[in-house]
Amino acid sequence: MQTVYRICGVVGTGAMGRGIAQMAAQAGSEVILFDAQEGAAQKAVDALRSTWLKLSEKGKMDPAVAQNCTDRLRVATSLPDLAECHLVIEAIVERLDVKQRLFQQLEEVVGPDCVLATNTSSLSVTAIGAALKHPSRLAGYHFFNPVPLMRVVEVIAGLKTSPQVCQKLAEYSRQFGHTPVSAQDTPGFIVNHAGRGYGTEALRVAGEQVADFATIDRILRDQMGFRLGPFELMDLTALDVSHPVMESIYRQYYDEPRYRPSVITAQRLAGGVVGKKVGDGFYAYVDGLAQIPAEPPVPQVDTLPPVWVSPKAARRQELYQLLKDLGASIETAAAPSSSALILVAPLGLDVTTLAAVERLDPARTVGIDMMLDDKATRRRVLATNPATRSDMRNAAHALFARDGKAVSVVRDSGGFVTQRVVATIVNIAADMCQQGVCSPADLDLAVTLGLGYPMGPLAMGDRIGPANVLEILFNMQTVYGDPRYRPSPWLRRRGALGLSLTHEEA
Ligand code: NAI
Repeated sequence: MQTVYRICGVVGTGAMGRGIAQMAAQAGSEVILFDAQEGAAQKAVDALRSTWLKLSEKGKMDPAVAQNCTDRLRVATSLPDLAECHLVIEAIVERLDVKQRLFQQLEEVVGPDCVLATNTSSLSVTAIGAALKHPSRLAGYHFFNPVPLMRVVEVIAGLKTSPQVCQKLAEYSRQFGHTPVSAQDTPGFIVNHAGRGYGTEALRVAGEQVADFATIDRILRDQMGFRLGPFELMDLTALDVSHPVMESIYRQYYDEPRYRPSVITAQRLAGGVVGKKVGDGFYAYVDGLAQIPAEPPVPQVDTLPPVWVSPKAARRQELYQLLKDLGASIETAAAPSSSALILVAPLGLDVTTLAAVERLDPARTVGIDMMLDDKATRRRVLATNPATRSDMRNAAHALFARDGKAVSVVRDSGGFVTQRVVATIVNIAADMCQQGVCSPADLDLAVTLGLGYPMGPLAMGDRIGPANVLEILFNMQTVYGDPRYRPSPWLRRRGALGLSLTHEEA
């Protein structure tokens, strides 16, 4: 296999540069490493040698191939040593002036056809290229940490980047086993932009005292299949990394309400409660293990009241079947009896609003999240309203836990927990399609590979049904009066027409 770039330079040999150099060598390029700090490039070469040695000892790499990779590495002592490179990728400090200066210096030493690539995660590729004589040769090449394991790379075209440059970079990434996705030069590119919904909406839910951090994590893991809950994830990434990203994207989009960060993370960052690495975050850590508070026990209830279901409940037939399976005594009259537990299953609205609009006794009204098929989830989520009596809350909890399935009872909130977070994720993704940040297919691919979500945001929207997502958002706007929930036109049109979110227009 002929490699796309025979000689590849890597400038900045920290965590990212090292991983990029590994990929380049494995793609068959000769790799020249340079770092401003004396000895750093040699350290990176030594570390890569030992990585390949370990891989070959474990039988994961042919020893001859490992040796070839090692032989292909060279250390540069100054930038002019990169003169013969066909591609130079930088992974230095994240500062516009420093990156611009580096590329200006590189332009002085490399040949006219040499491609220049930046691994920036937050700066504009167009702005970096503005300092160059030939900005058409510069593209964004955004890898994720750790590079060898996170097998996706965003190829970003600045305003002046030549399409051929992007095409070749994409082809090159396939040679080292990565999946390239194409992005326009917009704040956060694909993954960091699409990732705004999960944490920020979960923080809003927590900020409204709907549920505690551990309960929100449990709900999103068990209902939607996220591998990590949003607070576990923020503890792992650490708030000194994730809070500035939230602020940066919000500011770069001129205070777009959808990306508004939370005072919770600002305060925790200020207090140094940043996550697992300091042993203190949304969870406390002992010997590196999160101390997870126990779930509230299922209340003991001797006699369960009869149950009446609102005619407007989402998935009403499935809810009836579930109640039958749980052995509930179901009322079928037009109105509930005076002793009935009243169940509502709203999409986007809160239990309070439904009780008021449907003229139900709020003291006996409890909500259940039926957005997803009960059989497809590992947890049921109930919500009380401020007037719900404790005997009714306990009865609902005990009833829905009868078959042993986990149940969380949260405070009233338009959209419970999962509806809110998922609708926000889908809406942001739909808006990215509207803005042409990338293709719908690349969006889902990048998020699945880069964030490890159980499915791409658009596929998530299709699973719930675009019309349902739209209804959730419209109703949440009613409850909160907050522009952050206004649906993207991309979602509105597809929801109204009953089209898939990945449907391509002619
Ligand atoms: P790092 O701090 O581990 O390594 C940076 C290296 O660059 C250091 O060895 C430093 O001596 C060298 N350096 C700094 N200025 C230089 C210059 N002017 N010329 C030559 N070498 C210079 O940082 P890390 O984590 O490897 O990140 C590097 C870049 O990659 C940043 O721009 C960052 O935004 C981007 N990035 C980082 C990710 C991460 O998760 N760490 C993810 C995606 C992108």
